[in-house]
Order: sequence, then C-alpha cells, then structure tokens
Amino acid sequence: MITIKTKEDINILREGGKRHATILKELAAMVKQGLHSQELENSARKLIAEGGDTAAFLDYKPAGAKRAYPAALCVSVNDEIVHGIPNETDKIFKEGDIVSLDLGLVHKGLITDAAVTVAVGKISTELQQLLDVTSKALYAGIKVIKDGKRIGDIGNAVTRTALPYKYGVVEELSGHGVGYSVHEDPYVPNFGQAGKGETLKQGMVIAIEPMFNLGTKEIVLDQDDWTYRTADGLPSAHFEHTVVVTKSGAEILTEV
Ligand code: MF3
Ligand code: CO
Repeated sequence: MITIKTKEDINILREGGKRHATILKELAAMVKQGLHSQELENSARKLIAEGGDTAAFLDYKPAGAKRAYPAALCVSVNDEIVHGIPNETDKIFKEGDIVSLDLGLVHKGLITDAAVTVAVGKISTELQQLLDVTSKALYAGIKVIKDGKRIGDIGNAVTRTALPYKYGVVEELSGHGVGYSVHEDPYVPNFGQAGKGETLKQGMVIAIEPMFNLGTKEIVLDQDDWTYRTADGLPSAHFEHTVVVTKSGAEILTEV
C-alpha cells in the first residue's frame, strides 16, 4: 500500500532529513586511506545518538531476510554495490577505492534514507566519471517527479543518464517508498517506461537510488546474506535521496 504523508509528517521528515544530511556529510568527510569501516560505523552511531535519534537500519529485518542488518551504516567498497557491513578487520580503505555510505535515520518516529559514494584519495578518471554520472542520474530522476507523473518516468530518466557510458544499471535492486518504515510501496526501479507505472501523488515520500556498475548489471549476494556485489568484480556507485512529491516537483529532504 502506498501511503501519503501528512503535513506534520513531512515537517518531521524535513527536520530529520537535514540532520541526516549533516551526519552523512560528516561521515563522508572522514573517508581516507587507512580508515576502518568500523570507525565510520562508530561515528554514525555517536552522531545519531547525539541528536537524540536512532538508526533505522540497525536490526532491520525485511520480510524474507535470513538475519537482521547488524549495523547503523552500510559501507560498500568498490565491487560491493549496497548493504556492505562495516567491520574491524578487512574493510580498511586504500587510495583509489570508492566507498558508498548508506544511512537510515529515525527522527521522531519517521525514517529518511540517503547514500553517497566517495573517493579515497585520488581515484582514476574512469571511476570519477562513474561517481559523477551516478549522482547526475539521481538528480535526473528527481527532476521528473511531480504530482501526476509516473514511477516509470523516474527509472527512464535514470537509465537514460547511464546509456552513453554503457554502465550496467542494477535492476534487481530499487528505490522505494519510505517514512513509516525503511521499505514501503511503491518500488522505484532504476529503469522503466516513461508514462507507465504507479502515479505519483503529492505527499508520497520515496527514496530514489541509482546503482551503476562499471561493467555489467549482474549482481551476486555475498555469503553474509547482505552484501550485494557486481558479478564481474568491477566497481559500482550508489547515490540516494529521500524526496517528497509536491504539486509542482519534488522536495529533497535529505539535504542541508
Ligand atoms: N538504502 C538501502 C535500501 O533501500 C538501505 C538498506 S537498509 C538495510 O536498500 F538495513 F537493509 F541495509
Ligand atoms: Co534505500
């Protein structure tokens, strides 16, 4: 069921979204060579708690999942697409890596979801382009949103951005409604036909999240039951915002 958020809900999401954006920015700025992903996890928990909020992903167990997600933050490095789990040992950043940080925040009971992919030190021009184009696709998807448009319009705009670069657009994972829970209806795929799919309505809150691979679109699920990787081992980028549909467009909630 697709829910429509009230004015009061949207005010809370706006407030939470700003906190969310501030925290994510701070975490992104910490990313450097030699940092352990666990240090980012610890900082995420600390920053969230300082604001009196809670982590939406920690202990989140979607229907069908074998185990709950064990962290506040998803840290996905290079060929990891999304849902990488931070840890003490093997996830230490090195120059040239790309790192996706995905955070969920619960503020006064309402959830926002956003992600960025950042570079560790100097990265190749090829990887920089992957980051730039994936981010551009997120904004292209957001730009077509307004009351009366369709879900397919979003995916169409996202995929069209990837086309000239021949990136693999991940199709098995998608954006989603968000707010009352981490994943709500509708699905927001990163591909689609313009003018097709559910109609967007004022007050709908959705997370748009393109995932672009340098190689093919094929994905594999890791043994840890959470981490999605590219099947060909090539790097992948991920950007996400939570937005609310308005009469004339979309308001990005997870930005400062
Ligand atoms: N933005 C991610 C998604 O929508 C957040 C996943 S939450 C997790 O899939 F807990 F499942 F990691
Ligand atoms: Co999401």
